Amino acid sequence: MTQHLLKAEIHCHLEGAAPPSLAEAQARKYGMETSHIIQDGSYRWSDFSEFLVCYDAVASLFRTAEDYALLTETYLAELSAANTIYSEIIISPDHGDRIGLGADAYLAGICDGIEAAREKTGIETRIIITGERHFGVDRVVAAAEYAARNRHPLMTGFNMAGEERMGRVADYARAFDIARDAGLGLTIHAGEVCGAFSVGDALELVKPARIGHGVRAIEDPAVVERLVELGTVLEVCPGSNIALNVYPDFASHPLKQLKAAGVRVCINSDDPPFFHTSLAREYEIAAQEFGMGDAEINAMSRTALESAFVDEDTRTRLL
Ligand code: HPA
Ligand code: ZN
Repeated sequence: MTQHLLKAEIHCHLEGAAPPSLAEAQARKYGMETSHIIQDGSYRWSDFSEFLVCYDAVASLFRTAEDYALLTETYLAELSAANTIYSEIIISPDHGDRIGLGADAYLAGICDGIEAAREKTGIETRIIITGERHFGVDRVVAAAEYAARNRHPLMTGFNMAGEERMGRVADYARAFDIARDAGLGLTIHAGEVCGAFSVGDALELVKPARIGHGVRAIEDPAVVERLVELGTVLEVCPGSNIALNVYPDFASHPLKQLKAAGVRVCINSDDPPFFHTSLAREYEIAAQEFGMGDAEINAMSRTALESAFVDEDTRTRLL
C-alpha cells in the first residue's frame, strides 16, 4: 500500500480531472446531452484524437467561475485525501474563452478553488498555463502572452499540450520565448504521441526544465543522454500511456530504463478519470507494476518537488 506516502504531482490537466459524475451534473445544469462523451459512467473515446475531442467537450460543460472553483476544489480534495501535499494543475485560458467565460473569470474561479482547498486541507497548488497545440500557433502564442501579462502569484509555469503531431516544436518556440522572458517555468508535452525527435526538438528549441511525458526519448540513446546531461525532469504518466496505447502494458513501459539511465523522473496522473486512474493509483502502479519500494517512490516525489515551479520558501517547507 502507498496511501501512507506523501505525494506530489506536477502534471494534471484540470478539465481532465473532472469526474464523469461531475461532468454529468454540469450537463444537467446546462441542459446538455452527454451520451456521445460519457457512457456507463466512463468517458468515451478510442484513440488520442478522440480523447482530445472528448476533453474539449467536457471542458465546455464548465461555464462560470463558480463551476471552475467547484471543479478545482473537488480535485484538490481528492488529492489531499490521498496524502498529497503539492500539486500543479495545467489550465488553458482558451477553454475559458471558448465557452464565453473569458480567461480572467476562468482563472479567478480556479484560484478560488485553490484557496478553498488550501484552507480546508493545507494542500499547496500552483497553476501552469498551457497552449493547446491543436488550436494553432496563434492561440499558443496568445496563451503565453496572457500568462506574461497576468503574473498572478499562483501562476508559475507555461506548457504546451494537445495534438503533438500538429506542426513541429520550432513553430511554437516563440510562445516559449515570451513565457521564459516573463519568468515562468517551462514544460512541454513531447515524446508521448511522437517519437524521440520531438523530445530532442523540445530540448534544443525550448530548453524546458521539464518535459510532459518524454518517455519515447528511450527510442534514441542520444536524446536520453541529453536529458541526463541537462537534468531535465520527465513528468511521466504511466496509466495515461497505457490507456492511450503508447505502450501495450506496464512491462513494456520505459520508466525503469529511463531511471536506470540517470534521467530524473516523477509520476503523475495526467487526466485521471479519462484514463481510469488517479494519483493514488499511479503510486500503486509504481509499487505493484514497477516493483518500486517506498524509498524509490519517495525519491520520485522529491524530484517532483525539486522541479516544481514554486518559490524557494514553499519548496523548502515541503521538501
Ligand atoms: N496529452 C496531450 N494533451 C493533453 C493531454 C495529454 O495527455 N491531456 C490534455 N491535453
Ligand atoms: Zn498531459
